[in-house]
Parts: sequence; C-alpha cells; structure tokens
Amino acid sequence: MYHDTVVKQFSIMTVVWGVVGMLVGVIIASQLIWPDLTAGVPWLSFGRLRPLHTNAVIFAFGGCGLMATSFHVVQRTCQVPLFAPKLAAFVFWGWQLVIVLAAITLPLGYTAGKEYAELQWPIKILITLVWVAYAIVFFGTIAIRKVRHIYVANWFYGGFILAIALLHIVNSAMIPAGWLTGYSAYAGAQDAMVQWWYGHNAVGFFLTAGFLGMMYYYVPKQAGRPVYSYRLSIVHFWALIFTYMWAGPHHLEYTALPDWTQSLGMVFSLVLLAPSWGGMINGIMTLSGAWEKLRTDPIIRFLIVSLSFYGMSTFEGPMMAVKTVNALSHYTDWGIGHVHSGALGWVGLVTIGSMYHLIPRLWGRTTMYSTKAIELHFWIATIGIVLYIAAMWIAGVMEGLMWRSINPDGTLTYTFVESVKAAHPFFIIRMLGGLLYLIGMFVMAWNVWMTAAKGSRSFKAPVPQLVQA
Ligand code: HEM
Ligand code: HEM
Repeated sequence: MYHDTVVKQFSIMTVVWGVVGMLVGVIIASQLIWPDLTAGVPWLSFGRLRPLHTNAVIFAFGGCGLMATSFHVVQRTCQVPLFAPKLAAFVFWGWQLVIVLAAITLPLGYTAGKEYAELQWPIKILITLVWVAYAIVFFGTIAIRKVRHIYVANWFYGGFILAIALLHIVNSAMIPAGWLTGYSAYAGAQDAMVQWWYGHNAVGFFLTAGFLGMMYYYVPKQAGRPVYSYRLSIVHFWALIFTYMWAGPHHLEYTALPDWTQSLGMVFSLVLLAPSWGGMINGIMTLSGAWEKLRTDPIIRFLIVSLSFYGMSTFEGPMMAVKTVNALSHYTDWGIGHVHSGALGWVGLVTIGSMYHLIPRLWGRTTMYSTKAIELHFWIATIGIVLYIAAMWIAGVMEGLMWRSINPDGTLTYTFVESVKAAHPFFIIRMLGGLLYLIGMFVMAWNVWMTAAKGSRSFKAPVPQLVQA
C-alpha cells in the first residue's frame, strides 16, 4: 500500500552520488598534493571541482538520502501512502536534473560565488519548484495521516524542509545579468551576513536536523528499542531549531561585521552544545539494555559511531566559535578537519547505516546480501575518517601557529609557502583516509547491487521469494 518506488530510486541514487561526490573529493585531495595532476585543463581545476565536490556530497548524496528516508519514514509513521505520488516522482526527477545541471555548470566555471549556493539563478528557480513539491508531498502525507500523533522524526524532517526553503529563498535573491550570471541582491557586509546565516543553517538544517530525523527513526528500529527519552527528543527539537538560527556570524569573526553580531554568534554557538549533546545522548542511550548489539550488529555500529562523531563535531564547533580559538583555527585546515568529522563521521555514517537498514526491506529481503561486507565497510570507513581528521587537526594547528609566529624584530618567522610545505605530508595522509572511505562506498555499491539482484546470502534458498510474494 505504500509508495516505495520513489524511496527505492532515491536510495539507489544516494549510493551512486556518494561514490561520485567522494571520488571528486579524492581527486581534489590529490590536487592539493600534486597541483599539476589535471594538466591545467580548466574544467578540472581545483577551483571548479571543489564546489562540484561540496554540491555532490551535500545536496546529491545527502539530499537523496534525506528524501529517500523522509518519504519512507513519513509513510510508516503516519500509516498512509504518500500524498500526491506523481508529485513525488517529479521531486525525484527534478532533483536529479538539478544535480546534473550542477555537474555541467560548475566545471564550466559558472558560479554565483556563494559557498554552498553556487548554482546560477535558473537552476535556483528549479530548486525552488522541486522543494515546494517536496514540501507538499511531505506535509500532505502528514495531513492525511491515520495516526493522531506526529512522530518526532517527522518534526525534524519538517523543520529541515521549512528552514531550507526559507534559507534558499532569502540567500538566493539576485539580479540576473544573462542566463548564467547574476549579482547578489545584497551588498558588502550585509551580503556576507546573509550568506553565512544561510551557510551555517545549511549545516544546521541540511546536515543536521534532517539527519536527526533519520536517527530518531532508524536507531530505535535497528536497535529494536524505543527512543531513550521521548520527552528529551521534543526538547531537543525546539532547542536546536531555536539556537541554530543565531550562530551564523561565527563564520565571520574578525571581519567587517559589527562586533556585537560576532559575539552573539559565539554565545549562541556555545549554547548549541547543550541541545546537540542532548540529542546525541538520547540517540546513544536508545541502545541501553542492548549494548551487546554493538558487537554483533555492524549496522548499529554505523549508527552509534555516527552519533559519537556528531558529539565530537558539536563539541569542536562551539570551541572553534570562541573568538580566541577562532583567531588560530580560521583559514587553516583545522576547519576542514571539523567539517569532515561532521560530514564523514556524522552525515556519512548515519546515512550509510540507515541505507543498510532500509535497502533490504525495500527489495523484500531479510538482510543485505553480505553482512561481512557491511563489517568491512564499517572498519575501512572508520579508519579513513580517523586518518582524515587527525591529519587535518595537526596540519591546521601547525599552520595557525606558524602564521602567528613572530621574530623578536617583529617580522614573520615563516613565509606562507613554508606552512604549505609543512602541511604536505598531512595532505597525503588525508588523501589516503579519503581513499579508504571511498573504497568503502564501492563495497557498499556492490552489496546493494547484490541485495537487489540476489537477496541475502544467508537466505539464498526460497526465503527471499517467499518474502517477496
Ligand atoms: C572520500 C571522502 C572525501 C574526501 C577525500 C574529501 C575531500 C575534500 C577536500 C580535499 C576538500 C577541500 C579542502 C580544502 O579546500 O582545503 C573538501 C571540502 C569539503 N568537503 Fe569533502 N571530502 C570527502 C567527503 C565529504 C563528504 C561526505 C562531505 C559532506 C557530507 C564533504 C563536505 C565537504 C565540505 C562542506 C567542504 C568545504 C569545506 C569548507 O569550505 O570549509 N566531504 N573535501
Ligand atoms: C554545535 C554545533 C556546531 C558549531 C557551533 C559549529 C561551529 C563551527 C565554526 C566555529 C566553524 C568555523 C568557522 C570559521 O572559522 O570559518 C565551523 C565550520 C564549519 N562547520 Fe561547524 N559547527 C557545529 C557543527 C557542525 C556539524 C555537525 C557539521 C557537519 C555536519 C558542521 C559543518 C561545518 C562546515 C561545513 C563548516 C565550514 C564552513 C565553511 O567555511 O565553508 N559543523 N563550524
């Protein structure tokens, strides 16, 4: 009775775009080691591939994961099929078109110049149409629900959908100057302020609230236990969405922004630690009484370790927002380390874990084709993350210290290029860590393919057919 075709399509594309986006990640990580790697071809240059990487991993991999799971969760928790399934199909094809257009225009060098909002205005209009359709399908399904209560995961997905709509509309305001150029409607410090209000909340709502929706459904499901504290989950929701909106100026400390806005951003970032950790604890404690599953179930391991990385990055973030710490960390690779402990650790692992739970069910299988492959994926991904973030922490702190080091006569101790040379070995370690993570994605792609084609290895005989019938 449920409309799962669109859920299946989005799930497959999550894996496909995950492989593509992370492959581009490994390529740009390699370019930072070997700057001549792509032989001066303009559309393969670092400056063009970098936004391709961020758009592919956040909006294609993360976006498809969020759309797949939100459409799956909202049907199960409301006990009705999707509202307007044809519109849901439009959401799928429209979103894929946005991704393909991004993959064409970004390497060609067309960019609006705003980080995480690089696409040009015609594509932004398409995004708006797709997003409105997404909201109609999601909230329409909630409106026709058969269960009175709206389960907390839907609150997080709903918050994510509404907040992204608002952020996208406000930050995209621009004056077109041709089909593939345009200028921001804001100027100077206001432009920067709007951009980082958007940028930070893209982290807060795209990379966090939506994935918390995933966490609140798939962790209890996989653990076979109810959420640790339902009351805490509600407090978590309201505290998180209220606080995130104010923290944006921590991206612009020591800039032309009024000083009080920077201090406000710092204070709200520190406050943000509380709801973030409340949510993390709620997720991890859902396993209480069933801790042995951490040893026996690799899917639970993906989900729980993702929450540990969520806790780590939401401790690190508030610390980096403290002005004196930011004076050291800003512009350095510490920032890149922080981003990827959140991105690879939290966003990546929770999506992968949820997909391993969801995919066999969508194809009527009991489990994934190979549990051993999930186990292997878990370990190479985790080792990959640790290599990536540890290398970036060391490089980042080293760069910060080298840049501020001053001789007794007041001149700089190191030139910039000396700091780049010193970071070189750590760039190699980062690339190897990323490569491991990417290999894990290939293992996943193979496992998903085999699950869809053959069912579960341990139930090869008639069981899958019985389940399907
Ligand atoms: C194989 C995995 C990955 C590798 C090797 C990789 C590599 C990189 C590299 C080399 C950069 C540019 C760093 C610089 O400019 O100095 C970067 C930036 C970035 N990546 Fe990744 N990445 C990977 C996965 C991901 C994932 C899964 C996400 C998100 C879900 C992500 C989000 C980002 C973001 C947001 C930035 C921009 C950071 C900033 O501007 O501060 N990456 N990545
Ligand atoms: C309590 C939560 C968090 C706080 C207070 C926080 C704070 C910060 C701070 C202070 C920066 C550095 C700004 C700069 O110096 O330029 C930063 C950068 C960043 N953080 Fe976080 N962070 C948090 C959680 C997360 C999570 C969970 C993720 C990812 C899933 C994430 C993704 C990013 C990204 C992508 C950037 C780089 C933005 C850019 O410059 O392009 N953050 N964050």
